[in-house]
Amino acid sequence: MHRQIGSYRPSDIEVVAAFDIDRRKVGLDVSKAIFSPPNCTKVFSEKINLTGAIVKMGCVFDGFAPHMCDQDPLRTFLPLEKESTREQIIAELRDSAAELMVNYLPVGSEEATRFYAGCALEAGLGFVNNIPVFIASDPLWAKRFADKNLPLIGDDIKAQMGATILHRMIVDLFRKRGVKLERTYQLNTGGNTDFLNMLNRTRLASKKVSKTEAVQSVIGERLADENIHIGPSDYVPWQLDNKIAFIRMEGRLFGDVPMEIDVKLSVEDSPNSAGVAIDAIRCCKLALDRGIALKIVGRIRPHFFVELRGPELFQPVPFLLQLVCRVEQQTSKRGRKQTGFHVEVRDLAHCFPISRQLRTVTQAKTFRFA
Ligand SMILES: NC(=O)c1ccc[n+]([C@@H]2O[C@H](COP(=O)([O-])OP(=O)(O)OC[C@H]3O[C@@H](n4cnc5c(N)ncnc54)[C@H](O)[C@@H]3O)[C@@H](O)[C@H]2O)c1
Repeated sequence: MHRQIGSYRPSDIEVVAAFDIDRRKVGLDVSKAIFSPPNCTKVFSEKINLTGAIVKMGCVFDGFAPHMCDQDPLRTFLPLEKESTREQIIAELRDSAAELMVNYLPVGSEEATRFYAGCALEAGLGFVNNIPVFIASDPLWAKRFADKNLPLIGDDIKAQMGATILHRMIVDLFRKRGVKLERTYQLNTGGNTDFLNMLNRTRLASKKVSKTEAVQSVIGERLADENIHIGPSDYVPWQLDNKIAFIRMEGRLFGDVPMEIDVKLSVEDSPNSAGVAIDAIRCCKLALDRGIALKIVGRIRPHFFVELRGPELFQPVPFLLQLVCRVEQQTSKRGRKQTGFHVEVRDLAHCFPISRQLRTVTQAKTFRFA
C-alpha cells in the first residue's frame, strides 16, 4: 500500500524460510511453490527470481480439516505424511536468520497457529498473524512476545477493498442520512481453498464474530442477531480466487417508507490482502530495528496511515511509522535507548483525530485507542 515505510520498500522484503504441508509445495523454492496447485489466483507477476528459500514441511495439527480429504486433488490440500519436528522448524528459522514470521494458515487453524507462534517466539522472531486466531489479542501470548521485546501484530487481516469496509460504509451512510436500518446480510462466495476450507462451519466461529461485529459497531443501535447475517456463504469451484460479496440493506426513510440497496463486489481474493500484509511486515521490521516491542491488536488493515493534523497538515503519513518515530524522538532526547515500549492500537478506524493520542504515546508506556 506504501512504496516506502521507514527506509524500507516492498523489494526489501526477503523470504528466507517457508513452511507448508502440501506435497506439491514442500521441497520447492518459494518462487516455484507459489504457482503450484491448489493455488489458483490471477498471476500478476510471472518472473519471480529464485529466492533460495526451500519450502519445508511443517506440522499439520488442525491446518487440514477432515472434510478437505474428500475433494478433487486439484482443489484441496495434499499433506505429506512425515511432518517436521518442532526442533527442526525452530532450527530452520534460526539458520535462515529470519526476523519475523507471517501466518497465513487456513481459517480455524487454532492449534497450528499457536504452534508456529511458539516456534517464532523461541527462535526470537516477530509475528504477524493474518488469520482470526487470538494471539496478539490474547494477553498471555502478548506478554510472552513483550517479555522478549518482540513485535506482535494481528489478529486477522483486512483486504484493500473488501466486503467489510464496503458494508460499513453503506451502514454509515444510512446513519448519516437518518435511514433506519432494519435488516442486512453479506453473502460471500469464492472458489479457492479458503472458501473450501470454510465449508466446515465449526472453523468459522471467530471469523463470523469478527466480521459481524465490524458491521454492528457502526450501526449505532445494534440489530437483533436474526436481522444481520454476515459470513462466507458458499464454495463455487469455477470462481477460483474470485470472491463475490452480495450485500443487501433494508431500511426505512422519512415517513416510514421502505427502501433497499443491493450491492455486488467482485475482487480477486489473494492480492487483495497482500499490499496490507507487506505494510505490516515493514512496520514489524521497523519495530525490530528500534528495539520496540510493538504490539498492534486488531485486524490488520489498510489504515496504516492517517492524515495527520498539525504541522503535517493533510499530509498522509504511515500511521505506525509516525508512532514509532515519536517514540524514537522521545528516547533520543533523553539520550538513552528505551526498550520494551509497548504501543497498543485497538482500532485504527476510530483514531481520528489522533494528535492528542500521539502526544500521549510519548508519555505513556502503553496506550489504547478506544
Ligand atoms: N484476501 C486474503 O487473502 C485474506 C484476507 C484475510 C484473511 N485471510 C486469511 O489468510 C489465510 C490464508 O488464506 P489463503 O487464501 O492464502 O489460503 P490458502 O488455502 O491458499 O493457503 C493456506 C496454505 O496453508 C497451508 N497449510 C495448511 N496447514 C498447514 C500447516 N499446518 N502448516 C503449514 N502450512 C499449512 C496449505 O497447504 C496452504 O498452502 C486464511 O485463514 C484466510 O482467511 C486471507
